[in-house]
Parts: sequence; C-alpha cells; structure tokens
Amino acid sequence: MVQVFRCKICGEAFVANSKSTHCPFCGAPIKFLVDAKEYVEPKIPELSEISRKNLEFSFDLEVKASQIYQCMRKKSKDEFIIGMMKTLAKVELEHAEVIGKLIGKSMSCEIPFKEELCTADKAESLNKTVELETGAIGHYKKFLSEATEQRVKDVFEALIAVETDHLNLTEKELKK
Ligand SMILES: [Fe+2]
Ligand SMILES: [Fe+2]
Repeated sequence: MVQVFRCKICGEAFVANSKSTHCPFCGAPIKFLVDAKEYVEPKIPELSEISRKNLEFSFDLEVKASQIYQCMRKKSKDEFIIGMMKTLAKVELEHAEVIGKLIGKSMSCEIPFKEELCTADKAESLNKTVELETGAIGHYKKFLSEATEQRVKDVFEALIAVETDHLNLTEKELKK
C-alpha cells in the first residue's frame, strides 16, 4: 500500500510503497525518513556565532556546487553524466534551501547558469565532482564538531552522509 513519507532534513514529502533508502529530494539516509503522520517540523534554533558563520559558508558552497553541476549537465553529451549532474544539481540546491532556512536566507528558484564553471569533458567533470564533494565533507565534519544546536548537528550529519554517497558514486565511475 502506498503511503506518504517525509524527510526530517528537508521536510519534503513523497508517496511510496515503503520507505526508500534515501530522501529523493535531499538524499538524506533512511534514518531521517518518517511516516508523514509522525512528522514534526523542526524548530529553528538560536544560532551560536560559529554555527551561523559555518552555515553561511555552507550555503554558498552548496549554491556554487549546484551551479557547477548544472553547468556540467548542460554541456555534457554523455547521458549518464547528464543524469548524474541533473540529480546532483537538484540535491545541492535542496541543501542550500535547508541551510537557508536556518540562517533566514531564501532561495530564488533559478540560479544563473555560468558557462565558465565547467567543460564538457567527462573525466574533468568527475574529477571536479570528487574535489567538490571531498571539500564539502571536510568542512561539514569540522562544522558538525563545532555545532552545539541539535538541528544544526542533524543537518551536518545528513549532509556528510549525502556528500559521501556522491563521492563514492563518482569514484566508482572514475575507476571504470
Ligand atoms: Fe530530504
Ligand atoms: Fe550538498
């Protein structure tokens, strides 16, 4: 029987037969998914100075990553890369939205396409992805350790898991 599930990280809802392994919107792992009837909207905490600074930095990082993936999607001629970058661009934008809610920044639905951010080369795109995801994971691990607010900890924990999935996926592709 189909039912409604919600993600505790991004708040998005989806209809499925059973809980999927990852949120289809932000990529958060299964532990953050709940039956929509049990969902409670997370409260926005009062932020420490360091968390605010870290979240501002993370917001920019996610927007930038999304722009780069968007560029790769538009330039690539490889259907696999087009599909992969399409989902990565959306997921990173969702992350920016999640972070934005914590720091009171709203997302404009369209982020400008920047031609100069990438090339059409497949290997170069995958290597750039490894660089972006590795960088994000490193920052988010540090930010998680510096966070005192439970909501901020949950967000960084989920983001680390998602960016690690992206990294593993990309490295697997590079080995082919
Ligand atoms: Fe989500
Ligand atoms: Fe992200």
